[in-house]
Amino acid sequence: MSWLTALYFIPLLGIPAKAVNNGLARTPPLGWNNWYSTYCDVSEDLILETSQLLVDTGLLDLGYKYVVLDDCWAEEERDNTGHWRADLTKFPNGMKYVADTLHDKGLLFGMYSSAGELTCAGYPGSLNHEKEDAEDLASWNVDFFKYDNCYNLGQSGTALISFNRYKAMGDALNATGRPMVYSLCSWGEDQVHTWGMSIANSWRMSGDIYNSFTRPDALCSCDDERDPQCIAPGTHCSLLFVLNHVSAYADKARPGAWNDLDILQVGIGGMTDEEEKAHFALWAALKSPLLLGHDLRVSNAKSLTIANNPAILALSQDPSTKAALLVQRDTNVPKDKYGVGETHVWSGGLAHGDQVVILLNMANENQKISVSLEEIFVRDGAGGIAAQNHHDWDVYDLWADRMSDNDAQSILDAADQSAREQLFQKLNWYNSTRIPYSEGLKMRDPRLLGKKVSMISAQGILEVDVSRHAAQVFRLRNVDDSNLKRRVAIKDEL
Ligand SMILES: *[C@@H]1O[C@H](CO)[C@@H](O)[C@H](O)[C@H]1NC(C)=O
Ligand SMILES: *[C@@H]1O[C@H](CO)[C@@H](O)[C@H](O)[C@H]1NC(C)=O
Repeated sequence: MSWLTALYFIPLLGIPAKAVNNGLARTPPLGWNNWYSTYCDVSEDLILETSQLLVDTGLLDLGYKYVVLDDCWAEEERDNTGHWRADLTKFPNGMKYVADTLHDKGLLFGMYSSAGELTCAGYPGSLNHEKEDAEDLASWNVDFFKYDNCYNLGQSGTALISFNRYKAMGDALNATGRPMVYSLCSWGEDQVHTWGMSIANSWRMSGDIYNSFTRPDALCSCDDERDPQCIAPGTHCSLLFVLNHVSAYADKARPGAWNDLDILQVGIGGMTDEEEKAHFALWAALKSPLLLGHDLRVSNAKSLTIANNPAILALSQDPSTKAALLVQRDTNVPKDKYGVGETHVWSGGLAHGDQVVILLNMANENQKISVSLEEIFVRDGAGGIAAQNHHDWDVYDLWADRMSDNDAQSILDAADQSAREQLFQKLNWYNSTRIPYSEGLKMRDPRLLGKKVSMISAQGILEVDVSRHAAQVFRLRNVDDSNLKRRVAIKDEL
């Protein structure tokens, strides 16, 4: 092979990807965070009831392990040795009791602070208290730590200043000896996509999300036109904003280090069912951590049938760990009253030579979206030279086998453990505790692969009607398995 081909294949040779070295989050973390449903209304009851619901509704056994308590759990003053004090009216048995109870159920416990003098809600932040706070987290058996950016005393504005502020906590966590997923939340400031992966397991890449598909908001100002200096990453960032923002560095995701697109808005209200389905699939394909954000105590059947789709979760937990990338964007489509409207095609490589393709309609009317194999596989070689462009592909719809509302309702209504067990059996529940996604995919478990709906011939085109504010989500599988094996073998030889 020529030196040119050699260069082209370097990424396949497995140059060690730099990522924080704590052995955690080899696939994106799955779980729940209370912020967008209860805000500061937190308590031991909330965490323990939610945990039991994750177990009872089968979500734990789909991989939702991390139960993350956000802001407002502490007393307003530290104790006289400088350590945090848990608010004992909200958490009467302390934080370690919560962690230990979760561990007994097979779940993991996440907590929150800010890299500032205060947290966003005004409780003691961890800036200049990194050591004692990391020690407290470790002594409480915490497994996951979200670290926000409020009240940072002006310690931002360059990549190095922010890096050093967040690294101080990473070092303190490491020094405790307790492995904790480090979830960095600097709102995308100071080019975090260039340094977050060196110290943390995930980094938030924009201001806070809100439950709108496309609506622009003055509080989320960091786009090129309105705010080139990005003065306020802010809050109220729409899904469209987040997707466009991450598109330039979606490829930074790697095992142990993920772009965090923020907590899921599924089930919170304000979006249609189709919008929520699109949201969930994109967050999975982009390898964002998937933290459910709705109140599971009042959960409805529809939200459950989105969160429990194993064919979508298999995108998130795919062992190839590549994020889907934006390969086609069309802004010449009908706009809504805010002047917003565009369509996207996202495409990403999956294990065993499969490919995920998401046709996303954020225009104001139904659209026919077409994309060629050449574009779908453009990251494997532009100009149609990718080997995949010359194969035939079966197209599998990943929402086709979505659970019915009735079945989901019967899970929510089940009287006891044995009724639930019978239901899970009857519904042929995918159990990732028993069969990890990597194994299920290797065995080509049909529950992970969706339903075959069409085919694309070599050098052909995928053309699909997509409703307004919806996405079609497909897994492409090579028709000619023997070709596939040959191609994989060639790559392995290199
Ligand atoms: C999944 O498998 C584990 C281990 O065998 C079992 O304890 C659990 O009850 C199963 N969960 C479901 C939802 O079937
Ligand atoms: C601390 O960092 C070292 C060096 O990167 C790593 O080998 C070790 O696993 C880390 N320990 C924890 C608890 O994160």
